[in-house]
Amino acid sequence: MTTIGITGATGTLGGRVTSLLAGADMRLDLRLLVRDAARAPDVDTDVRECTYADRDAVLAALRGVETLFMVSTHEGPQRRDEHRTFVAAAAEAGVRHVVYTSFVGAAPDTTFTLGHDHHFTEQAIRDSGMSYTFLRDNFYLDVLPLFADDHGVLRGPGGRGRLAAVARADVADAAAVVLRDPADHAGAAYDMTGPEALRLDEVAARAGAVLGREMSYVEEGVDEAYASRRAGWPDARQWQLDAWVSTYTAIADGSLARVSPDVERLLGRPARTLEQALEQRPRGTGA
Ligand SMILES: NC(=O)c1ccc[n+]([C@@H]2O[C@H](COP(=O)([O-])OP(=O)(O)OC[C@H]3O[C@@H](n4cnc5c(N)ncnc54)[C@H](OP(=O)(O)O)[C@@H]3O)[C@@H](O)[C@H]2O)c1
Repeated sequence: MTTIGITGATGTLGGRVTSLLAGADMRLDLRLLVRDAARAPDVDTDVRECTYADRDAVLAALRGVETLFMVSTHEGPQRRDEHRTFVAAAAEAGVRHVVYTSFVGAAPDTTFTLGHDHHFTEQAIRDSGMSYTFLRDNFYLDVLPLFADDHGVLRGPGGRGRLAAVARADVADAAAVVLRDPADHAGAAYDMTGPEALRLDEVAARAGAVLGREMSYVEEGVDEAYASRRAGWPDARQWQLDAWVSTYTAIADGSLARVSPDVERLLGRPARTLEQALEQRPRGTGA
């Protein structure tokens, strides 16, 4: 019997991984790590409350867990510390293998500024001595329409760049495959992408058709993008503005354009298209 710990079980990825693994295999024993047990998925399994920043609660929650699905926490300046604390506690608790939801091209200098946190977290996991698999996610196909304003306009400095966004359902399906047999994926970093790289005008047209609403893409310059976001969200902090604007500049410079075969290799079927991701989109928006 292997005990698998699942974080973020109240969220989209962790929730789907839970439903894929719960009761699916007698060899697997699940333990859900949530911040609020009252919101945990309704499955017959062990549920423990902890937040990533609470070392003692994480240690108690993870003792006896061998394989761990680690969802990155909500964005913010606190995230590196939360992840550092969580990874150290997981290693101390005896976790053997971590499956972490990272970001494509995670590096200290990714154009998308939140990719820096993912590099930092990958490094912490490597340094911890635990075995690992990184699922390096592109942007989520089913979240892209939420970037649009009330008029259905995707507005930003994305130029004519392309992105190979991935369905969250595919990320969760791939995570379940890896969690079942982690030794087969030890040390691997998989790029989680969709089956094609799309320009933002194509995303708008195709998403609009599925969702039955008018959608379009309006290109902004970088200064214009900062100004429009400062005007719309006067209380937004600099890290948030940088993340919002670099979402688009990362598309413009091509750093999100590579289509990877990894989803198809892991799942034995093609990655979901934009249409499939939106038609079957999970509840929840991500952050
Ligand atoms: N690549 C992309 O395009 C993209 C887009 C959106 C998000 N993301 C990242 O991917 C992650 C997972 O995506 P998702 O769609 O599953 O997000 P989600 O539905 O928002 O779920 C996030 C989960 O993480 C939990 N969580 C957040 N902060 C935590 C903390 N400090 N300690 C313990 N648990 C914490 C949340 O718990 P609560 O229910 O208690 O809040 C929730 O269960 C996100 O958190 C975000 O970092 C990536």
